Amino acid sequence: MNTEARQKTILVIHGPNLNRLGLREPEVYGHTRLSEIDTQLEMLGRQWGLQVSTFQSNHEGAIIDQIQAATGQADGVIINPAAYTHTSIAIRDALLLLTVPIIEVHISNIHRRETFRHHSLISDVATGQIVGLGINGYYLALRALADIIGASPSTV
Ligand code: DQA
Repeated sequence: MNTEARQKTILVIHGPNLNRLGLREPEVYGHTRLSEIDTQLEMLGRQWGLQVSTFQSNHEGAIIDQIQAATGQADGVIINPAAYTHTSIAIRDALLLLTVPIIEVHISNIHRRETFRHHSLISDVATGQIVGLGINGYYLALRALADIIGASPSTV
């Protein structure tokens, strides 16, 4: 009998314009590039025995395809839908297909910004939301997911 457990997988989805992190409004979003965040998430994941796969798109449909592909594959999802947070019923509906925990992350504190950013169409679909803690929000989200899905620190 194969007693080895399948490695748990976390999918991280970054929405539109987040491919320009580090260059885009650094006073709001900081100086760190998205590739550095992804590398750090993959490394932190390894410490928890988790496989982290990351995805960024500027296209709503591509994000929806990725969420659908995660059904039955990912054990948890971290998503920063960026501007689609405030507009996309379609991304919300796709997230409703998932039965795994979902953490919504926003680098900036959307509640301190323009009123159109105050409302998220995702937050009541997500397990939890982290806003305003900068890029640390991604790392905290991964830490929380590790706990929620019962991952244990890797010994290798
Ligand atoms: C954001 C906040 C959104 O309002 C904005 O459109 C983004 C980034 C954040 O991470 O703070 O693109 O999701």
